[in-house]
Amino acid sequence: MNINLKLTNAPKAKPTDESKLGFGALFSDHMLVRKWTMENGWEDAEIVPFENFSLSPASAVFHYGAEIFEGLKAYRTAEGKVQLFRPIENVRRMNQSADRLCMPEMPEEEMLECIKKLVEVEKDWVPHSEGTSLYLRPFLIGTDPKLGVHTVHQCTFCIIASPSGSYYAEGINPVKIMIETEDVRAVRGGTGYAKCGGNYAASYRAGHKAELKGYSQVLWLDGVEQKYIEEVGAMNVMFKIDGTIVTPALLGSVLPGITRKSCIELLKSKGFKVEERKISAEELFTALKEGRLEEAWGTGTAAVVSPIGELAYKGEKYEINNFKIGETTQMLYDVLTGIQWGKVEDEFNWIVKVD
Ligand code: PLP
Ligand code: COI
Repeated sequence: MNINLKLTNAPKAKPTDESKLGFGALFSDHMLVRKWTMENGWEDAEIVPFENFSLSPASAVFHYGAEIFEGLKAYRTAEGKVQLFRPIENVRRMNQSADRLCMPEMPEEEMLECIKKLVEVEKDWVPHSEGTSLYLRPFLIGTDPKLGVHTVHQCTFCIIASPSGSYYAEGINPVKIMIETEDVRAVRGGTGYAKCGGNYAASYRAGHKAELKGYSQVLWLDGVEQKYIEEVGAMNVMFKIDGTIVTPALLGSVLPGITRKSCIELLKSKGFKVEERKISAEELFTALKEGRLEEAWGTGTAAVVSPIGELAYKGEKYEINNFKIGETTQMLYDVLTGIQWGKVEDEFNWIVKVD
């Protein structure tokens, strides 16, 4: 694979006030594009100015949700260097999502090279302020201009980059989450474990309802019995109950989060007992009422480690840890972001330097 560069001669001004970046609203000068057809496989990749796509209105992505994506970040260290956090995990998950939607996988080393090259070209777009990063969004869309429902025969892979601050307006302060009891996000055998656009479209209605009531996101229950806790809209969840960390097991309907995996590895290395298992809402609220639910938090690339200060369930509101960030949540946030921004030694070998 070659990566051909067609760089812009009209670079945009970089944001001057990085405290106002928000999440995913502003884009860098370039994007990487690589096309695939069933006949010829992957073409060379190109880095071109960030611009609109020209696609047939009949394209599969518009009608049948032929779309998968990833999310990872490039971080700037105190020395001004740029680095990625476990990008190979995103590459592997992208290929797993591709497999589920019967879309083309890309050789791991080639996708990794695409990510690294775009970051290298856009390194001046990696913001400098604490808590900011260049959010990278690789995605793959089906572009077949035909309305029959068949496996895609042509696709476009693209990576865009967005200088971003925190995902939630609350930053590291606790968020309020509503447990959804009507809609479901995913079932086993469905696409819950894949990162595909359709999963998020299915979540809009519940998310909107929660936002209208002042909640940041919804916590999904399992799609069959609506009894077991699964995950939040854009993050996995963890609970500290009687000193043990409990997180829903990956049984096919939950996204296998890279932050989740990293937190589990970190927690175990620090001697915590971690249980990946089914946990029902009933078990959770019994623990809460008995004072045994010490902390709750979400994990995700965009959300990082976010304390959950309130859970709403069936009309009741439950406060967790007096709406304060708990010590384990804080420790995870500090160590994880410390490694990501190069302030804490990377004893797990998770960092990939770009420049
Ligand atoms: N669950 C969902 C539904 C998500 O969208 C995300 C975000 O990517 C996560 C969990 C967390 O995954 P990761 O830690 O890999 O970002
Ligand atoms: C991420 O954390 O990278 C995600 O993809 C979450 C997103 C849906 C905002």
